[in-house]
Amino acid sequence: MTTKTLNPLFDLTSHQRQPSIKNGLYLKDVLSVEQFTKDDLDYIFLRANEMSKMAARWGTCDLLKGYTLACVFYEPSTRTSSSFIAAMERLGGKVIPITEGIQYSSVSKGESLIDSMLTLEQYRDVIVLRHPEIGSVAKAAKYAHVPIINAGDGAGEHPTQALLDLFTIQKELGKIDKLKVAMVGDLRYGRTVHSLTKLLSQYDVSLRFVSPDTLRLPLDLMNMLIDKGINVRETSKVQDVIENADVLYVTRIQKERFTDLAQYDEVKTFFEITPELMEKAKQKMIVMHPLPRVGEIHYSVDKDPRAAYFRQVQNGMFIRMALLAAVLGQA
Ligand code: NCD
Repeated sequence: MTTKTLNPLFDLTSHQRQPSIKNGLYLKDVLSVEQFTKDDLDYIFLRANEMSKMAARWGTCDLLKGYTLACVFYEPSTRTSSSFIAAMERLGGKVIPITEGIQYSSVSKGESLIDSMLTLEQYRDVIVLRHPEIGSVAKAAKYAHVPIINAGDGAGEHPTQALLDLFTIQKELGKIDKLKVAMVGDLRYGRTVHSLTKLLSQYDVSLRFVSPDTLRLPLDLMNMLIDKGINVRETSKVQDVIENADVLYVTRIQKERFTDLAQYDEVKTFFEITPELMEKAKQKMIVMHPLPRVGEIHYSVDKDPRAAYFRQVQNGMFIRMALLAAVLGQA
């Protein structure tokens, strides 16, 4: 969908707390980044910027008053679940979280994912779902009658993370085209890498992939990039990419996806971003990480202004506010 000129959601110049105009992007579900065109992305980023202004000015608003979100996490989460909760609350909606308590829900009695979804939708307007199986969230969306947002399906995708990652790149560096993005770490199982790579493939970027041999980017993704004519290279050394990278996107080795822990032990200390390594990087570049980190970035890098990972976290809430509004027909 194309929306070059767009009415603001909020009238920031008056005391009015209600949204002024509804128009624009309607999303049925958020399942994969493949559903977004570049125009959609521009639109979502615009709305996310509006959300950040609204939050700075008023803190909360009534845009989603009367709506309820079910946050259902079958895998651990800190940032994704809490940012969806914060996003819904800032827009005036209510949340019933089923995150830490999944062991107390009927799932522990053997209830199927579909039955759980069909039950939850009876008293929720939107469901945010994280599940360990690739494709499970899309399957749930097929049966559910309320919007479903994919908060990570195993080693598959993590579309809302990729949207906030791209938004962060755009905000921090002012552009996406012509950038050199290096992805480092577990490129095989890292779903944030999979989603971000697909999104970046819509732009004129150069991509560098840094991983141990056993954790290289899946072949279908690599072939997709080559078919699109994207400039790609693979290496196993961060030193090969650090000098030219505009974005260093660092990820954790996904221990929970290994069937053989001996293989994990071989790669778990594959690399570490240190202040010494950062001395080789450009002055204008950013280091990103979807977090949690478990030793990939030394804590002393945090005070480097190029360390963008906590700013990235904050952007997550604004992007999720924009997405919740879009699936509920209020964007
Ligand atoms: C990521 C995830 O869950 O895929 N975390 C997140 O949502 N910010 C990354 C990870 O767990 O390594």
